[in-house]
Amino acid sequence: MTLTNLSSIAAMDRAHALHPWTHFESFERDGALVISRGKGLTLWDEAGREYLDAVGGLWCTNIGLGRQEMADAIGAQALKLGFSSTFVDMTNDPAALLAGKLAELAPGDLNHVQFTTGGSTAVDAAYRMVQFVQATRGFMGRTHVIAREHSYHGSTYASMSIGMRNGDRAPEFGYETATIHHVDAPYLYRMPEGMSVAAFTDHLIAQLEAKIAEVGAEKIAAFFAEPIQASGGVIVPPEDYLRRMWEVCQRHGILFVADEVVTAFGRLGHWFASWDVYGFQPDIICSAKGLSSGYQPIGAMIFSDAIWDSLRGDRWYTSGFTYSGHPVACAAALKNIEILAREDLLGAATRMGDVFQKALATLSDLPIVGDVRGKKLIGCIENVADKSTKEPFADEVDIGKRISDAAEKRGLLVRPIGPLNVMSPALTISESQIAFIAETLRAAIVEVTDGLVRDGVSLG
Ligand SMILES: Cc1ncc(COP(=O)(O)O)c(C=O)c1O
Repeated sequence: MTLTNLSSIAAMDRAHALHPWTHFESFERDGALVISRGKGLTLWDEAGREYLDAVGGLWCTNIGLGRQEMADAIGAQALKLGFSSTFVDMTNDPAALLAGKLAELAPGDLNHVQFTTGGSTAVDAAYRMVQFVQATRGFMGRTHVIAREHSYHGSTYASMSIGMRNGDRAPEFGYETATIHHVDAPYLYRMPEGMSVAAFTDHLIAQLEAKIAEVGAEKIAAFFAEPIQASGGVIVPPEDYLRRMWEVCQRHGILFVADEVVTAFGRLGHWFASWDVYGFQPDIICSAKGLSSGYQPIGAMIFSDAIWDSLRGDRWYTSGFTYSGHPVACAAALKNIEILAREDLLGAATRMGDVFQKALATLSDLPIVGDVRGKKLIGCIENVADKSTKEPFADEVDIGKRISDAAEKRGLLVRPIGPLNVMSPALTISESQIAFIAETLRAAIVEVTDGLVRDGVSLG
């Protein structure tokens, strides 16, 4: 967006705030869009312009914005106990109740929780946990981890080093590379030409085996994977892929960390996706976002009885944060879970997810839409310069951003990630809102395509 006359708020922001993923040149030129209010899926900027938020905040506003009940629960807890430490041997009622609730909802024997401040810190906490537990089991050398290309696991030093997404590795930053390894993603749209899905899956499984052999199983603590690789491009794996990757890990004593920061709390129609959608039982699940639907910053690293048993004894677990088990954040998460259950928003996500996928699929006739993919309430279009060869647009075309700008003009927010436009709306979305997304996105893509043709950009 281009704001020629910045308001005083936008000007203050531009002068003083460093945003996550700032692109300095365009930020200094354009400033930021100031969002002032939200209700359900609708946002209003400070000038009163209305937008339908198909992004769901940032994969997180699962129950929708502006809920009185959430404000009441947060306010009441802030008044009753606005903070209390959970270090060593203290707790508070919302933290204890939420830990119990998560143990009830998480699959299998995942009955223990370390609270964090968000998704990155949940992944960071898992990274520390897997090394610690391997050591308590006598495997001091198991300090390496394996993750995948096109993954995003957060923005702390460790979680950013575990992730490997196009464009994230700014050369000015340092990353841990000696002990963190990556294998290919199950990126079906760009798998080798002529290969079947089954053969591609076999290839990925064999590649993990080969990576383990190369590094040495005795050095590897864990494998980290998002069930659906979200920010890395909504990469939906073949049905049996995750289970087979998990089996390989099992065989080699490698712990499986499922990063469900996006996929948990209803986005795929279940509390968690690992078991209910993909049929594997991770040792650890990292969650955040939908845990409070974004009303409060909170994450949870949920781990197994087997891990807990290995931790026990005369030792200190020196990991955690001032705000671990924050009473107000935990009260928000408890109320959010109550609302998700009471309104059957998991069922709604299942039903509306199918409507959403069908609506997005109608865009595949457009000449620059190379792939439409997703599952339930996660969706994405991949724009390409040539549909038959899948040739990408040149970076400077910035196609995803052009389309999101054209959609924004029409009152729709979709997220540009490189050549992609990504969506993850609130689970309360209606059929008419889904229809609006599909129609508006179509109009935006047509407008951008016409502009490209006028500018002489060659399209296949
Ligand atoms: C899969 C995944 N893991 C971790 C994170 C990091 O979460 P946060 O930004 O809350 O630290 C994200 C954020 O988008 C994510 O998508």
